[in-house]
Amino acid sequence: MSSHLLSVDSLSREHVNHLMRVASRMEPIAQRRQVTRVLEGAVLGNLFFEASTRTRVSFHAAFCRLGGSVCDTTGFTFSSMAKGESLYDTSRVMSGYCDAIVMRHPDQGSVAEFAAATNVPVINGGDGPGEHPSQALLDFYTIDKEFTRLGKTLAGAHLLLTGDLKYGRTVHSLIKLLSLYDPMRITLVSPPGLEMPGYLIDLVESRGHRVEQRDSLNSDFSDLDVVYTTRIQKERFTEDMIESFAGVSQDFTVDRAFLDRHCTDTTIVMHPLPRDSRPGANDLSVDLNGDPRLAIFRQTDNGIPVRMAIFATLLQVDDLIEKDLREVRWFVPTRIGIDDRQL
Ligand code: ASP
Ligand code: CP
Repeated sequence: MSSHLLSVDSLSREHVNHLMRVASRMEPIAQRRQVTRVLEGAVLGNLFFEASTRTRVSFHAAFCRLGGSVCDTTGFTFSSMAKGESLYDTSRVMSGYCDAIVMRHPDQGSVAEFAAATNVPVINGGDGPGEHPSQALLDFYTIDKEFTRLGKTLAGAHLLLTGDLKYGRTVHSLIKLLSLYDPMRITLVSPPGLEMPGYLIDLVESRGHRVEQRDSLNSDFSDLDVVYTTRIQKERFTEDMIESFAGVSQDFTVDRAFLDRHCTDTTIVMHPLPRDSRPGANDLSVDLNGDPRLAIFRQTDNGIPVRMAIFATLLQVDDLIEKDLREVRWFVPTRIGIDDRQL
């Protein structure tokens, strides 16, 4: 693994397997049963120039749970980029203050440009419609964990990826990561105009996977193991696109009726979140709340051990974790969410 995490392109199957093993060793800390201080004294710079809840807060929390501290900047308005400072200068300045940097930025390639100006590890927290590699790692960790619980294997599994596959950066990173593994079946369903970029389909097919593309959820699907839904990325649309896609989203809604028709008791439903819950948004339906197949909050919880593993590996403390553990002393509820169940 290189000194930065900018794209899944820099990861081999061995790197991913290592990160998955380190992440599972982080579980007792992520689940608030044990405490470590391996990153005591280290400082993270968390630079978010686009909206975020999960990525920003879970990277922050993951660094704190390893014993480090975090400096945050949110939005252009409160950064000196608003005064015309370049990515190069910002990178060099931040590197003098911080031991690792996470950045989210609306322009594809911007995080790589920032990383090119520093030897401090940089993690891409999302660069426009480009990539979101830490999300792909936590998605993969979730699939692996859920499949282990359900007694399934990844080889030969059938995954459905649906929604905005053109601008959705999470699916760009996820499909590259899945392609490193043994052949599986991947069905892509998106509104016309929002299809997965062709070069990614070519890459996945060249590695032996079976890819099928459809433009509607109202067709026949069989043997689905994973339904991975995504939000229409309206913030990336031009004015005329907003008009032409108005109303389209309702045909791409995954809800209880879709699950009843196409899925089994062992299909899992994922979404990188946020889901747009405003009336008319037609994102992943809330009528699935409480259904054990809905894995979205197990998925968000998995963001902590996976992001801890990324930091521990990049900062080379992954071998020290077990030497530094203590029991927690504060109150932790046994069920975090009201709908959580023991599976
Ligand atoms: N939160 C994810 C991202 O930033 C997915 C989304 O926003 O729809 O890429
Ligand atoms: N999944 C994800 O990246 O969420 P945020 O946009 O809230 O960070």
